[in-house]
Amino acid sequence: MRIAINTGGGDAPGLNAVIRAVVLSALNQGWEVFGIRNGYEGLLSGEGVTPLTRADVRGITHLGGTILGTTNRGNPLEWPCPRPDGTVEIRDRSGDIARAFEELDLDALIAIGGDGSLRIASALADKGIPVVGVPKTIDNDLAATQVTFGFHTAVEVATDAIGRLHSTAEAHQRVMVVELMGRHAGWIALFAGVAGTADVILIPEIPYSMDSVCQKVEARYANGAGFAIVVVAEGAYPVGGKPFFQDPGGAGRNARLGGIGEVVAHEIAERTGRETRSLALGHLQRGGSPVAYDRLLALRFGAAAVDLVKERCFGCMVALDPPDVHAVPLAEAVERIKTVPVEGDVVRTARALGISFGD
Ligand code: F6P
Repeated sequence: MRIAINTGGGDAPGLNAVIRAVVLSALNQGWEVFGIRNGYEGLLSGEGVTPLTRADVRGITHLGGTILGTTNRGNPLEWPCPRPDGTVEIRDRSGDIARAFEELDLDALIAIGGDGSLRIASALADKGIPVVGVPKTIDNDLAATQVTFGFHTAVEVATDAIGRLHSTAEAHQRVMVVELMGRHAGWIALFAGVAGTADVILIPEIPYSMDSVCQKVEARYANGAGFAIVVVAEGAYPVGGKPFFQDPGGAGRNARLGGIGEVVAHEIAERTGRETRSLALGHLQRGGSPVAYDRLLALRFGAAAVDLVKERCFGCMVALDPPDVHAVPLAEAVERIKTVPVEGDVVRTARALGISFGD
């Protein structure tokens, strides 16, 4: 067998561990493995496909990022092709992918990605390309798998940051607002907010009211705590409002959330008169070494993906269904995203502890 592997979409801690598991599991059964550079770009340019050896994947389990490179722009189904007059034509280049695949005499592709990349993988599988998907995203918003690798690392980083913010909040009797990632789902904000003992957690699943947020902040001062920590998921929005974008996207650009933390901080300061500061943790949540849980999950996903190729179970994705890793159809896996259940146990735990969701 000659198999290829790529990483698409935003990076997540654990990508290199998947690559290592795929390469070693495949080489150990006498297969050849090729890495495609930068999502699908390597296949389309013809220059970005290289054999992967044991030496290439030595010592990478603990490394963040991806040795293959990634992009969240290169969708081969909607590829921007500049015309001579300066305008851009959007083309479906899946045929070119299929041709490159044949020319390289490849038998299967293992595509590691989040919802966008897995949607592409699903469409390529529909067009006859033998694909196996591996789910990744720090957002943990893929419905078909109990958890994605990268999520626990992001929660760890965010929890640590919330802990550090407590020092300054307490020392200065301030309100500290921290904006965390999570495009459509508030998993990181919820988990890190509860673990880090925030006072207010705002997530996209529960639209907030500033009256309620400020009431909680004031209660913290009234009960003698003298400071407050507010965690805001980047996709959170007020009742009757909309998420806050840095860039609404369009013309080939992805929409980019961000800035809601500063908006919330400004309103808290205005309404309560309390000294308030905000920061967005941003890509710090995606970088660095994966925690042990994410390394292990990533290694399991990589080995399981090779098993699926061996069984010729194409058009499928590996998914964690404790205690095992199973195959789920890609089409089903990308059908819907997984949001935080608002009546779920973690939200209930938070409420029991007196944490406000601003509702
Ligand atoms: O989906 C992962 C994620 O980190 C989101 O939480 C965030 O909104 C987005 O990617 C940021 O993407 P970029 O790195 O392109 O700004």
